Amino acid sequence: MVESGVKGIVALVMAAGKGTRMASDRPKVLHEIAGEPMLGFLLAELEALRAKGLLSRVVAIVGHGAEEVRAYLAEVWPWVESVVQEPQLGTGHAVMQAAPELEGFEGSVAILNGDVPLFEGATLEALLAEHEERQARLTFLTCEHPRPDGLGRILRDPAGRVAGIVEHRDADARQREIKEINVGVYLAHWPTLRAALQTITPANDQGEYYLTDAIAGLVGGGHAVATVRTDDHVALGGINTRAELVSAGAEWRRRRGAYFLARQVTVEDPATTFIGPRVAIGADTVIEPFTQIHGGSRIGAGCVIGSHSRLVDAVVGNGATVRSSDVVDSEIGERTTVGPFARLRDHALVGSDARIGNFVELKKVAFGDGAKAAHLTYLGDAEVGDRANIGCGTVTCNYDGERKHRTRIGPGAFIGTNNTLVAPVEIGADAYTAAGSTITEDVPAGALALGRARQTVKEGWVARRRASRTEKQKSEA
Ligand code: UD1
Ligand code: CA
Repeated sequence: MVESGVKGIVALVMAAGKGTRMASDRPKVLHEIAGEPMLGFLLAELEALRAKGLLSRVVAIVGHGAEEVRAYLAEVWPWVESVVQEPQLGTGHAVMQAAPELEGFEGSVAILNGDVPLFEGATLEALLAEHEERQARLTFLTCEHPRPDGLGRILRDPAGRVAGIVEHRDADARQREIKEINVGVYLAHWPTLRAALQTITPANDQGEYYLTDAIAGLVGGGHAVATVRTDDHVALGGINTRAELVSAGAEWRRRRGAYFLARQVTVEDPATTFIGPRVAIGADTVIEPFTQIHGGSRIGAGCVIGSHSRLVDAVVGNGATVRSSDVVDSEIGERTTVGPFARLRDHALVGSDARIGNFVELKKVAFGDGAKAAHLTYLGDAEVGDRANIGCGTVTCNYDGERKHRTRIGPGAFIGTNNTLVAPVEIGADAYTAAGSTITEDVPAGALALGRARQTVKEGWVARRRASRTEKQKSEA
């Protein structure tokens, strides 16, 4: 019996193309929607199928900008394998580059274009159901498209059976009337497809090896080829231009908003809310309009993410509030409030029940539970103990022009208004520093440090000054 590949399918993602129509130095699949390269949208769906046991491996075929694409894969999708296609001689040639990786593999492969960011994993499951039902050797996805220009058209015989796919540029006027297009998603019995791919030739307008030509080959060879037909052309059209990237982005926001609204999250205005595919958000959280939540951000339950906030790889604890703030690679504890107009970056780790107020920047800081920095402050390379209070206008002088130095502020310490903390320096638990101090030396626990000139008052100074001026004017006259 032939392995139909119910489980353990190997997914091949074609991501080697240049994307000429993007007119960009950046590889097409790295162009972003909601802060995530379009390739990542597909990989997020494949990750879910892998978790279900449907996929065993995912192999990306990279080529144009391979270094950049591989760097992205290594950083975000370390379990995704990759092979290089160099030069890029077409989609059929791309798939053949995976052959050495699939030596001896008798199961099925799922092949996907890397430029279809709105693709949903459920579609692949539907494809698989049809594939098994029809006992097909290859099953692929088609779509009714109102504007099929540039896309491959599905050719069917009078009985409605697939006869092949003709690319737009190779199609005649009558074929161009066809609205059913090839999406670029296929499921195939690998040994059968591999054999068909070995017979294709680059005899077309682009001089490329077309994966789509293998389909006519399979049909001609008497193999069962099936299709699943959809009408979701908005999601499945593929991205070739910046205009398509932007309209797919608008559609993504609409769908992403609907996704979270169905999962106990209030997204007040999906049209202006940019939530990436790897983001998780807990129940009863409110996302206000004009927000960006990107990367692997995880937002807890019962949070408020206020307008004009940008969160990238941020972790936000339950019940926290972030208003009009920029939070990158940082964590915010439970019930903590941040903003408006705060900036957290490079591992700013803020504890629970803390407060980070307006115009406060935190960089590489461990900021304790219940601690406060309410206004106009820069804390870099610092540790702030639980319940410490950082006065308005506090600045850690962490950089001497060559090296960074640490500031340590103990639990319960009180840093007076407008302090300059010259690192390396340590302020002990419960210690106080006077307002306006420049602190250059360690302050022991429980002490008060005054680091400023003592004030002097000159009584009657103004009157004396006026008098001396009048004398001077008289003598000059
Ligand atoms: C392809 C299909 C077309 C389908 C359309 C859907 C072929 C011959 N045509 O056309 O039937 O309607 O997708 O969007 O397959 N790629 C490589 N290596 C290459 C060439 C392409 O990895 O040598 C990758 C690209 O990075 C991209 C995908 O394959 O992710 C599709 O390539 P693209 O050039 O956009 O194909 P289309 O001409 O759009
Ligand atoms: Ca395309």
